[in-house]
Amino acid sequence: MSASSSEAGAAPAHHQGAAPRAAGGALLLDGKAVAARVRAEVSERAAAFAARYGRRPGLAVLQVGEDPASSVYVRNKRRSSLEAGIESFAHDLPADTSEARILALVQALNHDELVDGILVQLPLPKGVDANRVMDAVDPAKDVDGFHPVNTGLLAQKRPRLRPCTPFGVIRLAQEYGIALTGARATVVGASNIVGRPMALELLLARATVTVCHTGTRDLRAEVERAEVLVAAVGKAGFIPGEWVRPGAAVFDVGINRGSDGKLVGDVEFGPAAARAGWITPVPGGLGPMTIAMLLSNTVDAAYTRAGVWPPPSLRRE
Ligand code: GUN
Repeated sequence: MSASSSEAGAAPAHHQGAAPRAAGGALLLDGKAVAARVRAEVSERAAAFAARYGRRPGLAVLQVGEDPASSVYVRNKRRSSLEAGIESFAHDLPADTSEARILALVQALNHDELVDGILVQLPLPKGVDANRVMDAVDPAKDVDGFHPVNTGLLAQKRPRLRPCTPFGVIRLAQEYGIALTGARATVVGASNIVGRPMALELLLARATVTVCHTGTRDLRAEVERAEVLVAAVGKAGFIPGEWVRPGAAVFDVGINRGSDGKLVGDVEFGPAAARAGWITPVPGGLGPMTIAMLLSNTVDAAYTRAGVWPPPSLRRE
């Protein structure tokens, strides 16, 4: 893919014409609309699962403590599960719960036949070793895709359960016909939750991938080269719009509170939208996609545990 949007792969017909454009011309990547489509597919697959196995796919969501942002996410995840025909098992533990108690609960959920997916909401309280907790989740139920086994499988080009936000970026790119093969893709941020698995997903999609982090010498030069830019930093407006390459596809994973209290991404939206070929809004971009991919992973985990491989979402019909 080249820097110009016309060469970067045309959008499929159903996204052309009617699709809203941000000021200056970038096509808005409507995560809300695509997420609704993914959720509709998930509902169908969940209903088919229930008809075949006599129970709904089940998702257990663990929250320890009451981090306000986590509480919002967890509420959304539980509500969306129920709406999609997925059973939701809520486990809310007080902030002073010991690591041993959390590990015991994870083990119980690993052995619970009604639970297909286990999600431990991060961050965990200080004093709890998050890696230990994540490592305790059965990889077959790891719908966040954070277990080293799932990370390793993704790194080896044989993905199983895939981290939801990076998987959402790939799905959004597919829906809008944004070519990733051969594209110069730059990921800003190297976290275990987004940046690193994002780089692996882009590599799987055959992009030429650069990962930037706090050790990067010339961030501006790296961003300016990016035909596909994924920002996953967690700082409001961290990437100036004028750094964005004309025609680039910009995926903004950040969900931050701006100085006026409104939600903003990691990329300075207005000036970036004036230059980009495509851009995700915040909110309404990757937030809804992340939840939709979590639900999709849960149904995939349910089918896989029932011995159906590949699960419906990985089949090439
Ligand atoms: N905290 C912030 N993002 C996430 C996520 O994707 N999964 C979990 N479990 N916790 C998070």
